[in-house]
Amino acid sequence: MISKICILLALLCLAFTPFLRAAHLPRLEKRGAATQLIVDGKPFLILGGELHNSSASSREYMKPIWPKLKQMNLNTVLAVVSWDQLEPVEGKFDFTVLDGMLTDARRYDLRLVLLWFGSWKNGQSHYVPGWVKADYQRFPRARLKAGTAEVLSTLSEANVEADRRAFAALMKHLREVDSRQNTVIMVQVENEVGLLGDSRDRSELANAAFARPVPAELMAYLQSHKDSLLPEFRKLWEAAGFKAAGTWEEVFGAGAKTDEIFMGWNYARYLDRLVEAGKAEYPLPMFVNAWIVQPEDKTPGDYPCGGPQGHMLDLWRAGAPKADIYAPDIYLPNFPAVCEEFVRNENTLFVPESRGGVQGMANAFSAIGQFRSIGYSPFGIDSDPDPTNGPIHHTYEVLAQLAPLILEHQAEGGIAGIWLTQSNSTQLIKLGHYTLTATLRANRRNAAADGTERGYGLVMQLGADEFLAAGGNVQITFAANSPGPQYVGLASVEEGKFVKGKWTPGRLLNGDEVMYGYKMAELVAQRQTGTGLRFQSANPTIQRVKLYRYE
Ligand code: DGJ
Repeated sequence: MISKICILLALLCLAFTPFLRAAHLPRLEKRGAATQLIVDGKPFLILGGELHNSSASSREYMKPIWPKLKQMNLNTVLAVVSWDQLEPVEGKFDFTVLDGMLTDARRYDLRLVLLWFGSWKNGQSHYVPGWVKADYQRFPRARLKAGTAEVLSTLSEANVEADRRAFAALMKHLREVDSRQNTVIMVQVENEVGLLGDSRDRSELANAAFARPVPAELMAYLQSHKDSLLPEFRKLWEAAGFKAAGTWEEVFGAGAKTDEIFMGWNYARYLDRLVEAGKAEYPLPMFVNAWIVQPEDKTPGDYPCGGPQGHMLDLWRAGAPKADIYAPDIYLPNFPAVCEEFVRNENTLFVPESRGGVQGMANAFSAIGQFRSIGYSPFGIDSDPDPTNGPIHHTYEVLAQLAPLILEHQAEGGIAGIWLTQSNSTQLIKLGHYTLTATLRANRRNAAADGTERGYGLVMQLGADEFLAAGGNVQITFAANSPGPQYVGLASVEEGKFVKGKWTPGRLLNGDEVMYGYKMAELVAQRQTGTGLRFQSANPTIQRVKLYRYE
């Protein structure tokens, strides 16, 4: 009897092992208002940086870089794994470089987001192995009006199958060597896909597919989401008469925009099949990234046509539903506007590539504080000129201290990001019974003369009359937005740090450190006291304020 029970228990354990293991894997989880990345069972904020494209291909080259990444206060490194290095001979995989990277990342207590440079990187197919490059008959290329591009066609079964096998081998290997440590927390599938140089592939395969009816899965998605489609996407379908079936040109009208939808669908299906094969081996969160439309681009093909653009989110959701996130690479100056575009359609924000430096500081605070991003990552992090005292070092130092509170507030509400420039120098934030006004840091006597270019920060509500704010070059004032006494004064302001998660106050701020103006008649008429939070340095600091109201 006892042995039967033992056998039963053993069988039960075996049956549940995959579930137990999966519960410990990094995953995305909906928590209140946010979708968050869970690592080792807890919400995790990616304070990341992406290496230059070729850095991670050499363990030797990376040796002096790891300590710098640590000095910058990164907790996660985004690093390339390329198909050509992984499968130099068909069916023979070489994991040496990857295994070295895992060992080194663990040594520095850093997590990894791996970037699978497979069929495409920036729209090109430069990272496919030599045996794929050379065999262009087996692995067909895309054709532009101008000729054959060095780009795999999305329409070839041989192409997607070869990439799938390699990607699945990578994920299987990760399961074998990393599922206990969770060094790798997420994977980017391909890089900035899309066709450059034309609005669609004009190979024979592509022409045949373009002449066929729009696939039933896409039509079904359009019908079932008719009322919630993003306006720019819906408009195309509407203009062609909301048809329930037909060729691409019948359903969406003829032109480059329809070509883009056709390309987007085929890239999305291709990548979805990769994600499916990879997750079947090892179900880490997986995302795809977009080279977003630049101001000088006139038509699809000037930017990679068919990529997961903000205006294509519906199409990508329909075609690549297994991908967890459609992520923008944001180098443009209008950072918050791009984030805004990419949080539509229930998309979770992650910014795998963006700027470092002073702009990076503001972007990180905005993405995380305003748009509930799971993290931020400047590109080319290995060439940060000042790892021990630069903007990224200071930004991540503060964001690391605040991470537990930020993650809690992302889920439960009561958080806002601040992103200010000279041309966008005021931001109103409603939190609880207060309206906060954030402005660029100002000189008390002559605000205009201060000349601050950029201010940034985030604010979290800790209690009915208590806030915690962090930022640089920014000033925050408070006004009442509920009935009752309308003047808001500062009961106390502390600057401080979180040491091992515990608030540790430094100076008690008062006097010049909180006073921003003495024109009392004007200020009082506006129900202002002339005091507020003043973040005078470019590097971020943290302040905690208690307010009171009077009449
Ligand atoms: C975007 C790409 O995704 C990166 O791999 C890199 O090429 C950068 N552009 C260069 O700025």
